[in-house]
Amino acid sequence: MGFSRCFEFSYCKPVLFNCKRLAYLFPCRLFHHGSFISHADIQTEFSHHDPAVARINNGSFGCCPASIITAQKKWQLNLLSQPDHFYLNELNKRILQSRTIIKELVNADHVDEISIVDNATTAAAIILQQTVWAFAEGKFRKCDVAVLLRYSYGAVKKSIEAYFSRAGGEVLEVQLPFPVNSNDEIIDELRKTLERAKCNGRRVRLAVIDHITSMPSMVMPVKEMVKICREEGVDQVFIDAAHGIGCIDINVKEIGADFYTSNLHKWFFCPPSVAFLYCRKSPNCSVLHHPVVSHEYGNGLAIESAWVGTRDYSAQLVVPSVLEFVDRFEGGFEGIRKRNHGAVVKMGEMLVQEWGTHLGCPPDMCASMIMVGLPACLRITSELDALKLRTHLRDKFGVEVPIYYRPPEDGELIDSILTGYARISHQIYNKVDDYYKFRDAINQLVCNKFTCTLLSN
Ligand SMILES: Cc1ncc(COP(=O)(O)O)c(C=O)c1O
Repeated sequence: MGFSRCFEFSYCKPVLFNCKRLAYLFPCRLFHHGSFISHADIQTEFSHHDPAVARINNGSFGCCPASIITAQKKWQLNLLSQPDHFYLNELNKRILQSRTIIKELVNADHVDEISIVDNATTAAAIILQQTVWAFAEGKFRKCDVAVLLRYSYGAVKKSIEAYFSRAGGEVLEVQLPFPVNSNDEIIDELRKTLERAKCNGRRVRLAVIDHITSMPSMVMPVKEMVKICREEGVDQVFIDAAHGIGCIDINVKEIGADFYTSNLHKWFFCPPSVAFLYCRKSPNCSVLHHPVVSHEYGNGLAIESAWVGTRDYSAQLVVPSVLEFVDRFEGGFEGIRKRNHGAVVKMGEMLVQEWGTHLGCPPDMCASMIMVGLPACLRITSELDALKLRTHLRDKFGVEVPIYYRPPEDGELIDSILTGYARISHQIYNKVDDYYKFRDAINQLVCNKFTCTLLSN
């Protein structure tokens, strides 16, 4: 049996829905004994994807199956058919239903802890904005510190700059290594940074920790990192899990952070754009506000976020439909996650073996995305080279994959390290041929003695 057939076959075995936490919300789901989604049905669900493109980059913008797009359109028509009824009588109930499902999936204590917002960028703004008031009201002092990861997402770093730094705070980055071999390397760097942050009696007001870093991508040991932050007296911990829900198991109580956000449009099959923001019940919550202020100001973040003026809320309302969709797969979300992980590791190993390179981290430090070393002869020597190569792969080979430039560190010789890594993703619509297409494109470039210097700016 060929490799692709193995992937395809695994979706089709019938088993029972296995998410006990949600069973009481959707009792009818317990009687789901039918056969599971076929490979052909999966292809139909994603038949709107451009067939000319091997899309091995679910990580950037996610995906949305046809049945969820249909559900979203129904909500949009529902609104348009009688806007007054929809906005005044329906919307709140429906958003509450989505929040309740998310609350169960991530094991929050109370639905009030879950707000629905547009995206992880908005969630970050909500968390960072409150720090400005803390400075203005004298709760924080100049030179208080925020700690984030060297590989935290660029837009979130900008948010820290726009709010925390501008208000007088200092920012320290945890100098994570890459490639990385173990969680211990990450923990050591976090400890070192917190030690530095606290020197001269400074207070660490906020730690921003990615659950899965974007570029380079790896899963952080967040539970242990939060514990260390607590031990070291960090005031608040915010987990940026933009890639979280649908990609890894999330238990916000076990993780123990103050705030946790995840997009639903990346790995949870929602259309763009929707995210949740969990805020652990505490006096901290009342200082959080949605950056777009409307009638509900002061009624708690979840309620504020459920009305930010007249707009299209349909992406927030399809969460129940996502559960129905996922229920068609063996093992539900857990099954999808496991198969994506197994497949992306297998494909990553196939590629590094072909190119004589290495993975960016051990398989147990990745979920559904993995960093794959690219042949050094491509000569990726800057972020611009990485971007140009990505564009070249899209335009000339029909391969969509992000490329990471890994600069040499102090004392490293450029010829002794890999400077380019591809971040490959695996989602349910992927086929082994997508990865073969990528492999063959790189092989052809190598064979043609291509280097990034040949690409114009
Ligand atoms: C770690 C991380 N944080 C935040 C974001 C921002 O997500 P969005 O653009 O949906 O707001 C991303 C997007 O890829 C991300 O990877």
